[in-house]
This record gives sequence, C-alpha cells and structure tokens, in this order.
Amino acid sequence: MKITVVGAGKYGSTLVEKVARAGYADEIVMVDVVDGLPQGLALDINQSRPIERFETKVVGNNEYGNTVGSDVVVVTAGKPRKPGMSRMDLINDNAKIVGSVAREIASTSPDAVVIVVSNPLDEMTALFRQVSGFPPERVLGQAGMLDTARFADKVATALGVSPLAVDAITLGSHGDTMVPVPSKVTVNGQPLIELMDQGTMESIVTATRQGGAEVVALLKTGSAYFAPAAAAARMVESIAKDEGAVMPACAWVTGQYGISDVYLGVPARLDQSGVAEIVEIDLEESELAALQEAAEAVREKQADVKGLG
Ligand code: 2OP
Repeated sequence: MKITVVGAGKYGSTLVEKVARAGYADEIVMVDVVDGLPQGLALDINQSRPIERFETKVVGNNEYGNTVGSDVVVVTAGKPRKPGMSRMDLINDNAKIVGSVAREIASTSPDAVVIVVSNPLDEMTALFRQVSGFPPERVLGQAGMLDTARFADKVATALGVSPLAVDAITLGSHGDTMVPVPSKVTVNGQPLIELMDQGTMESIVTATRQGGAEVVALLKTGSAYFAPAAAAARMVESIAKDEGAVMPACAWVTGQYGISDVYLGVPARLDQSGVAEIVEIDLEESELAALQEAAEAVREKQADVKGLG
C-alpha cells in the first residue's frame, strides 16, 4: 500500500504522521515544492518509528518521481485562510495549485483514489476531477468528517458528556451552506432533541458552520490541522483497508436526495474503489431542503472553477 500526500504544511505533515503511525501502509510519500521541507519532516517522522513501534517508511520529495503508482493520494496543497477570510477567498490561488497537482497525479498515479482537502473544498474537489479526467468515484473531498466531529464535540461540551457518547452527521458544503443534521444526533443512543432546547441546538449548528473560522481567528496564521488531519486519516484508512465504512464525504452525487451532477457532502461508503456507494438517510423536510440549497450554491461555484486550474 503506497500513499502520497501532496503538501507538507501542518495539515499534510500531521496527516502523514497519523497514517504512518497506524502502520498499514508500506510507504508514504510526502511531496512539497519547498526544498528540504518534506525531506526533513520525513526524516523526523521515520526517527519516531522505534519509539512509536511502526514500520511504515516515509519519503520526502520535491518532485513526483517517487509517487508513481500510489494507491491513495491526498491533496493538501494550497494556501490556508487568514483571519477574516472566507474559504472562497482562496479560490483563484488554490485552483492554480490544485490544477497543477491534478496534472501531475494523472500522469504518475492514474489508478489512485484521490482525497482533496484544499479549500474551498467542494470547488477544489470538482476542479481536481475535471483536470485529472479521473472517474468521479475516484475523486472525493474531506469536509464532512471534520464538520461532523466539530458538531459532535460542541454537543458534548454543551451537555457535559463524553465526546464519544455523541453520534452526529453533517452534510452539504464545507462553507456557508453546511448542513449539520440535528434530527440525526444521538447522545448515548438518545435523540438530541429530547436533551436540548431548540435555541441551544440552533446556536450549536451556527457555531459548527463557523468552526473553521473560529480556529483561524485564534491562530491568526494558518488554519486548523489536528482535527482536519484526523478526519482525512480516517477516510484514507477506510479506502486503504477496503473497509467500506460509511462516513460523510464530498462526493459526486448522481440522483441521490433528488440531486444530480455536483460534488456535495453526503454519507458515502468508502473502499478501495473510492466512493463505492452514496448512502441515502432519512432527513427532515427542512434538512433535505437545506441540502438541495447547498447543492445549488456549490453547483454555481463549481461551474465557475472550470477555467481556473
Ligand atoms: C477547516 O474548516 C481547514 O477548512 C478547514 O478548518
């Protein structure tokens, strides 16, 4: 199992360390344009192996030569937000970067399953698919796992329970039209709607939508990476181990939820083929309407992105 991570920033390097430590990959190649950065980080991670007890070899490179024939590729390359910026403010700069990565990966790892995490997420996932020419089921984006984790953690904090007691899901875009789904949240198996008043629930939904900006505002330089890397690592694991686990992902929708031909956050079954299936869960009418609204918002932007890469 060979995995490539493009971008050796905080997100990329944290992801590489998490996946390497899990031990199921033979080799992880970390690519970045900055001379010495991926090489130095690879050396550092490899030197943690005798202590952490894993054998996965990490290789750092400025070119794509070592990435040839990767099974899974994660694209983290691109600029992060600064305080006050929306993810959409990154679209022009990151489209150029993601477009050039897509061309490299299409020629070096033509059979890979690709997870995009660069922002604006839904648009960069669509752009990678267009430029690479890969089938849509082999290109997906990470956002829903992260947004869901933020939603669950905020619910746990508000109720004073363990974050492990909360089961939640977040759909839609990784932006203003994100759709946290309160009707599906349970706490120790009990529906959230029985445990929390409407006002508190609505404020948690709003805080979840702004969860990324909340971290950016505190950090001042760069954006979140521990929870985002954990989210991407879980997706990589389900694909690399051919688990077929169902999790929220930005995937190409073909009629599910009454929506077609757009990349959107939906529950997806992930295995070695990429998105094996989009899973339809029962949504309340207002939640379904919000998901359809998100689809139209991202459809417009995804059409715009076409010429940018
Ligand atoms: C976030 O929400 C980086 O978009 C990512 O933190």
